[in-house]
Amino acid sequence: MNIDKRLESIVNEIDGDTLVDVGCDHGKVTFEAIKRGKVNKVIATDISQKSLDKCVKLINKANIQNVEFRCGDGLSVVKDNEADVVCIAGMGGYEIIKILSNAPKGIKKLVLCPHHDVQALRLYLQNSFKIEKDYAVHVDDHFYNLIVAKVGKDSLSEKEVLLGRDNISNEDYVGLLNALKEKYYKILALDIPPERLDECERCVRIIEGELCGSKKDI
Ligand SMILES: C[S@@+](CC[C@H](N)C(=O)[O-])C[C@H]1O[C@@H](n2cnc3c(N)ncnc32)[C@H](O)[C@@H]1O
Repeated sequence: MNIDKRLESIVNEIDGDTLVDVGCDHGKVTFEAIKRGKVNKVIATDISQKSLDKCVKLINKANIQNVEFRCGDGLSVVKDNEADVVCIAGMGGYEIIKILSNAPKGIKKLVLCPHHDVQALRLYLQNSFKIEKDYAVHVDDHFYNLIVAKVGKDSLSEKEVLLGRDNISNEDYVGLLNALKEKYYKILALDIPPERLDECERCVRIIEGELCGSKKDI
């Protein structure tokens, strides 16, 4: 199956015995995780039956065994010790936090790809997880954050919370910095409360410092 660079990176990070693919939708992560032998079994879940049906169709058409389909909110449909690895991709950071806050026992590894609010997610994760990898995947004109975490604790610097720990060695670090700078400039042009203004200005200072260090700019 042809999958884009974002999904390819997500699937590459998956390994374990039983994966929960939360918000499985089209089913491509479930499909590739089984096909490539990344895991032995997948519990494919989605809050929407219509979305889950897309995954059911793909998996059944390929006659793939070892996939269970469950319709429901986040990890509420998974019991303790049923799975050891969880993938949550294509949702906002706060939705992912909500889902992880009700995680069953036995989860050892997370593969997360939040589509926004990644800083909030990083701050949440450091209390119960050790972030093993945190990097951006550049697809077309968008940077997707990919976080791989294992059970443990972490302590992130302000720069790591903003930029992700591993992006300094990203081949398109400057592109990522400029994309973030543009995002914060747009926010700063809005009528935002003083505390949000301070926060955004701090972020811009960090980004500009990094850009200065890399001696490149837009
Ligand atoms: C944008 S799609 C992402 C699909 C796939 N994970 C990906 O990254 O390409 C988001 C999917 O998550 C599902 N979803 C949203 N909130 C959810 C929740 N709390 N629990 C389970 N599924 C959820 C939606 O129904 C939708 O199918």
